[in-house]
Amino acid sequence: MSEQVSIAVVGSGYVGLVAAACFAEMGHRVICVDNDEAKVRVLREGGVPIHEEYLPELLSRHRRNLVEFTTDLRSATQDAQAIFIAVGTPQSKTGSADLSYVDAVASEIARSINSYKVIVEKSTVPVYTNEWIRRVIERNGVPRELFDVASNPEFLREGTAVVDFLHADRIVIGAATERAAELLRRIYEPLTSGAYYRGQSPVPGPRSEADPPPILQTSTKAAEIIKHASNAFLATKISFINIVANICEAAGADVEEVARGIGMDTRIGPKFLRAGIGYGGSCFPKDVAAFRHVAEQVGVDFGLLHEVERINEEQKVRFFQKVRSALWTFRGKKIGVLGLAFKGGTDDIRESPALDIVKRLLHEGCIVRAFDPAAEQRSKEVIPESSQMEYVQDPYTAAQDADALLILNDWKDFLEIDFKRLHHTLRYPIIIDGRNLLDPPTMAGMGFTYLSVGRANSVQPLDTIPTYFLPRERENIKRS
Ligand code: UGA
Repeated sequence: MSEQVSIAVVGSGYVGLVAAACFAEMGHRVICVDNDEAKVRVLREGGVPIHEEYLPELLSRHRRNLVEFTTDLRSATQDAQAIFIAVGTPQSKTGSADLSYVDAVASEIARSINSYKVIVEKSTVPVYTNEWIRRVIERNGVPRELFDVASNPEFLREGTAVVDFLHADRIVIGAATERAAELLRRIYEPLTSGAYYRGQSPVPGPRSEADPPPILQTSTKAAEIIKHASNAFLATKISFINIVANICEAAGADVEEVARGIGMDTRIGPKFLRAGIGYGGSCFPKDVAAFRHVAEQVGVDFGLLHEVERINEEQKVRFFQKVRSALWTFRGKKIGVLGLAFKGGTDDIRESPALDIVKRLLHEGCIVRAFDPAAEQRSKEVIPESSQMEYVQDPYTAAQDADALLILNDWKDFLEIDFKRLHHTLRYPIIIDGRNLLDPPTMAGMGFTYLSVGRANSVQPLDTIPTYFLPRERENIKRS
């Protein structure tokens, strides 16, 4: 039987809320603190402010009995053995991580320490943050023997955050003292011992009692660098395959075949080799910049990361040019858009390449009709509804009378679309797929002009000869 630990999680964003729900699922007593009163009210009343698979189930399973929500940091942390800091570390003007929230929370925690606590940084932070937190707490008069600061980075992906947490590839614990490491090992014991997976109705995932997640204990600095380096490496993989996709396009090869061939090498691995319109989200863009900044600070030239960022920007421009090459002019053209979030399976639109493309289309005078299964509300806050921008509830309405349909993220739902029906709905049967979701020969077989990234274009006969279409001619052809 695992021992229950009382945990405070400061910050109820993606990382904080998922961690709180999962710690409760592992049997611990959790209090989640946020200074946003409205958010805390929603959480207390049973609401879930983010779209995340299994999160509503876990919260309703444990709310009140194992998870509580509060705005009162002081009383929440006083009773906790471990205090996880999961507040935002946004990008500052210089590209570095803005650590002012972490600093403020550390000072506030210091004022509430009355017995030994382990303060754990879970937010993505640059190397040395651990040292800073320790210094801030000491400066606030807390004796050294009353606390330790540890680092326990999180590797969850939005959309699959709960599964990533409970079925982690690895659990990294950066601790300078055995006392702190021991408490963290105790917290994760239900997972690392396999006990969680043989319990009643565990969240399903790749881990099992026979194959529980390994724990890696490191120095605090190594743990901090592991987090930044992991995200930077994954972003590098994406930019790498995107450049390879551009080579494939020029040479007439298929990037999917190439990615499969590269990925079968176990030293490289098949994941994160999907070419497209580039990476977005609240992590990769920010963390690549922050890690580059860390390198600069310690006198190391990490020019590679500049290149990764440049390629990522360029990829959106290339896609936009592809749309232009299919449509010739933009003003007044109707464009259907599938996908607004930075990837499928989430409502998060931060740094979304899809929204970037939509903004460019609107700027050029297009009329956009967009559908996303979850991100409509959030997108409206950035691009309000207008005579040029309409949000719709299904892909067929998005495609209605459109000059072309763009696929901008990888919701699995898009694979269920009845493309034959869509063909009749579109004004011209042109699909430009920024995420390589569909199969070119199948789309060509259904009569679409189908363009994607790093793969051969499937162009209908009419579209090959005159590079740009004349609407009246096309209507004649459709009738014949
Ligand atoms: C990422 C990491 O994958 C997590 O391990 C990490 O914990 C998290 O950041 C974080 O630091 O909090 P996330 O931002 O949720 O997770 O999204 P990913 O699934 O990694 O995708 C990031 C972007 O890369 C998306 O825009 C996605 O469409 C794009 N991508 C991903 C590609 O273009 N190609 C791929 O092969 C994979």
